[in-house]
This record gives sequence, structure tokens and C-alpha cells, in this order.
Amino acid sequence: MIIDIEVNNKTIKAKRGETILSALNSNGIKVPTLCHIDGFVPTGACRICVVEVEGKPNLIPSCSYPVEEWMKIKTHSQRVIKARKTIVELLLANHPNDCLYCERNGNCELQKLAEELNIRERKYSNEREKLKIDPSCSSIIKESDKCILCGRCIRVCEEIQGITTYDFAKINNRHIISTSFNKPLNISNCILCGQCIMVCPTGALHERNNIDKIQQALNVINKHVVVFYSPTISVSLAEEFNMKPGKNISGIINAALRKIGFNKVFDSTFATDVYIIEQTKELIYRIENNINLPLFTSNCPAWIKYAEEYFPEILTNISKCKSPQQIMGSIVKEIYSEENNIPVNDIITVSIEPCTAKKFESQREEMTNNGISDVDIAITTRELAQLIRLHGIDLQNIEEEIADFPYHTRSSAGKLTSISGGTAEAILRTLNYKITGKELEDLKISELRNNKSVKEIKIKIGKTNVGIAVISSMSKAGDFIKTLPKRKDLHLIEIMACPCGCVNGGGQPIKADTKDIKSRIKSIYDIDRKELIKVAHKNPQVIELYSKHLDNLSEEEKQKVLFTNYSKRDVLL
Ligand code: SF4
Ligand code: SF4
Ligand code: FES
Repeated sequence: MIIDIEVNNKTIKAKRGETILSALNSNGIKVPTLCHIDGFVPTGACRICVVEVEGKPNLIPSCSYPVEEWMKIKTHSQRVIKARKTIVELLLANHPNDCLYCERNGNCELQKLAEELNIRERKYSNEREKLKIDPSCSSIIKESDKCILCGRCIRVCEEIQGITTYDFAKINNRHIISTSFNKPLNISNCILCGQCIMVCPTGALHERNNIDKIQQALNVINKHVVVFYSPTISVSLAEEFNMKPGKNISGIINAALRKIGFNKVFDSTFATDVYIIEQTKELIYRIENNINLPLFTSNCPAWIKYAEEYFPEILTNISKCKSPQQIMGSIVKEIYSEENNIPVNDIITVSIEPCTAKKFESQREEMTNNGISDVDIAITTRELAQLIRLHGIDLQNIEEEIADFPYHTRSSAGKLTSISGGTAEAILRTLNYKITGKELEDLKISELRNNKSVKEIKIKIGKTNVGIAVISSMSKAGDFIKTLPKRKDLHLIEIMACPCGCVNGGGQPIKADTKDIKSRIKSIYDIDRKELIKVAHKNPQVIELYSKHLDNLSEEEKQKVLFTNYSKRDVLL
């Protein structure tokens, strides 16, 4: 029901039951927030969103207070501004003076608030012992001194991922966000999805930045530095450069990476096509032999870590295929190196991913061959943007180029793996072809194209009624896995840790909102609609890779390039 409320002397419409903040935002009136996350139950913890409501003695937190008919609200009165200013001044009282060197310089909500509220000096000073940075983890760095205790990370981790890596704790008389027993992140249960980074308003949580490593690699004489980027990057990088969200800029990315100085630029979607083909073969084998079903996908390293920690009993069901990142790295190190007479020790592989967990994956023992990693350096979309700025490249004014031969072609099925449901759709396309010898009548599987976090379909392929489930977010995955003993109708389960999939990965641009994520998804589906090669098994370069190399490898050699195994992981819970 629509009601009238008065805001800053003007009548606006609001929905009965919605919060004041929601009504203000729908009417284009902005008030600042810190602890609030869209779609989550408000906690009212930070009070920065306060407004003045006529008849109420105290200021009211707009994020948690519902509208009432004919409420009279002032959003920016002197009293309100003063209260907000005091809150920020108190937060700054013990905040480090690190802005110039901070990972979030220029993209920090606290910095922005200080600027908006015209704070020009440190009004209060509360000198405290510095807290140690936690550098233990390959993916995420925790800088507790920069934490403003908004609690967003705790809620995202608990409610989206069901993990509860962090909680509020009081240590040495000081409130902090802590892991279990305040132990380093690398021995915690964190699955490194990076969703907490996406909501942290300051630089308290950020990825391990590998830009310096790349700079060093590019400066070593006689090293052959090969870069490749995952399917999602081409539709998410544009936002970092104020271009239209979702714009597909793969040609521009190829050109920019060459200008930076990489010796070869490959498109990892090529390896994604290999991944789809191999996973389909594995699925057919398991269906024919009725073993280790349902098959779980293996392209999300945060999901893999979750399974190792929480559900070791299903590890035999997880696909043996390495993720596309690792397949691309091992193809470069094992095949490209030999074909081009470049000693493997002289090759440095750099992978660009929408994901913080990919950094961890690239350093896993299982992803090495005689001590040599498939992928030497993994960076996020955000780090790619930093690298492009560091090299002074004007993305708006460079000509598009194609990626390097022979790993430059890709199917749009490979691109679909960026979205929750897309890996299953891509596998089903190839599965139908491998089993029936024909393409699916309609390659687009609409039931898998919605933003639900759990989707299920059945599709008749050959004699089998193939049961597929698709899940994004670990809290939903955990609940679903517990129901599996009662399910004998499922053959394939696609799992991704981030809601909506890699398009919303923890390494993507921080500023993105729901509209931007939708634009990325739309862009991927548009690519699929327009693309000529829509299935992995029709990628001509992939067909050539099989006939020239993969089909001629021994089982042992194939194992090195394409497959891996996982085992139970003990962590502090
Ligand atoms: S990276 Fe993911 S699992 Fe780890 S603390 Fe953050 S939200 Fe939780
Ligand atoms: S680490 Fe970041 S998101 Fe978590 S409580 Fe601190 S400031 Fe908030
Ligand atoms: S944003 Fe409303 S209380 Fe924090």
C-alpha cells in the first residue's frame, strides 16, 4: 500500500512497511550508510544514516525504521549533519593515516564520507597500539587497524556463504573482527571467495596484490611472460574505466595487455572449452558405469575448498578436471612451451580472474608439475585495472586486437560459465552432441537462466533423463548437499560460491551494484546469441589441440595437464 510522507518539506510516496532509507532511495534522496547492506536485515549498528523525525526526541536510524503515514522527516538538518560528522570524526580518531598508501585509496567509503561531511582535521585522537596485519593468506589480507566494526563482512560470510569465518571479539581490551581464536586467515575455515572484500567499506579486507610481482616478471630479461584472462573479465573491466557496465571489451583488453609488455596474450575461454569437453566425457563415463554420481563441477576454487573442509565424503564425486585457469596454465607450460622450444623454466604464466580464491588455487601443491606451477601469478579484475592505469593506457582510445594464436578462439558456451547455470548449460550442449551425435534443438536452456540460487531441471538425452542442479552460494550448497542421500535422480551438480557466479566474483570491481551485475549477465547472453561457435566441441583450435596433442598423450601425461585430486582439509572452525 502506498502512503504519503513528508521529507525536507516535500511530500513523497512510500510503501507501507518499507524502511525510511528505502523510501528515500526510491525518491532519489541519498543519506549515507555504513553497516547497511542492500537485501540484508538491518542491524542499526553504525547510526550514520540517522534522520530527524518530527515528534521523536532522538535521531532515528533510517535503515532500520519503517515509514509511517505523514511522518515528517529532515534528512540533512544541521542537527543531523552534526551527528553524522561526529560519528565519522570518532571513527577517524583511531583510524590509521594511511590513505595515500591504502589499497582502497580513492574507493573508500570512510574517506568519501569524511570528504562529503567536510571533515578537514583529525578532531579527536585516540592513539592505540597498532594491530598486526594478517599477511598469512595467499588471497586475502586483513588489516584490522582499518576496520570500523560495521559488521558487513560477518553478515555476508555467515548469511551468503554459511561459513562464519569472522566474529566480533574483544582482545586486549579492544573490539576487533576476529577469526576463531584470532588465528591467521590461512588456517581458518575461510574459503577465500572475497565476498567480504566486496562489502568492506574500508581497506580492512583486500586481496593480496600481485602487481609488483607482474612488474618484476616483465622486467626479467629472457623470461617469456604469458597472460590469459578468464571469460568474465571482458564484460566486467569496462566499469573500472567509466565505460558502460557490461560492455564487452575483449579486443581492447588484448591490445592493452600487449602494450603492457606481455609476450603472449591468450583467452582462457579456450581452456574453458577444453574443461567443458573433459567434464562431459567424465559425466558420460560415470553415467554409463553408474559410479560417483552426481558429478560436481570443479571450476570454482572456493567451492572446492568448502567441500574439502565441510564435506570430504563427497570429494570422489567432484570432477577430476582442473579448473580452466589451471588447464590454461598447464597447456602453456606443457604444450605451448614444447611446441615453441621455450624452456618451461623461462615461462611465467599470469592469470586474470574475477576471483580471489583463484590466487589460492594457483598456489596449491596439486597444481604443480615437478615443482613448477601451472599458473605463477594470479590477479583479479581490480588488479588488472590498476596495472592498466600504472602503464598509462587509455582504454577509450586504443584499437581492438585479437588474442594470440593458437589459443585465441572460444565458443560462447565457454563464456556462459561466467554465470551461475552457465557451466551446466555448456556441458549439456556437449553432452547431447556426444551421446546423440546431434546438437540440442534449442541450445538456450531457459530454465537455467534466472537469478535463483538453486535451480533444478531434468532433460532427456539419449536414454537418460539427466538430472541437473545448479547452486550458487555456499549456504545453499551446504543445505542441498545434506539432502543428497535421498536423491538418486541427479547426475550433474554445478556449484559456484559467489551469488550469480563469477560475474559477481570477489575480485570484480568494488563499486558494482545489482544493475551492473545484471548488465554483465546480459552481455554474456548477448555474446551467446550472436556467436557462431556456440558449443565447446566445435571450437576449431580446441579440435586441433586434441588431434595434435591431447589425443596423443599417455594417460600419465594427460593426468598432468588436465586432471587433479582433492583431499580432506583440516582447518580451525
Ligand atoms: S572470503 Fe568468503 S569465506 Fe572468507 S571470510 Fe570472506 S566471505 Fe567468508
Ligand atoms: S573488516 Fe571491513 S566489513 Fe568487516 S567489520 Fe571491519 S570495516 Fe566492516
Ligand atoms: S547504515 Fe543505518 S545504522 Fe548503519
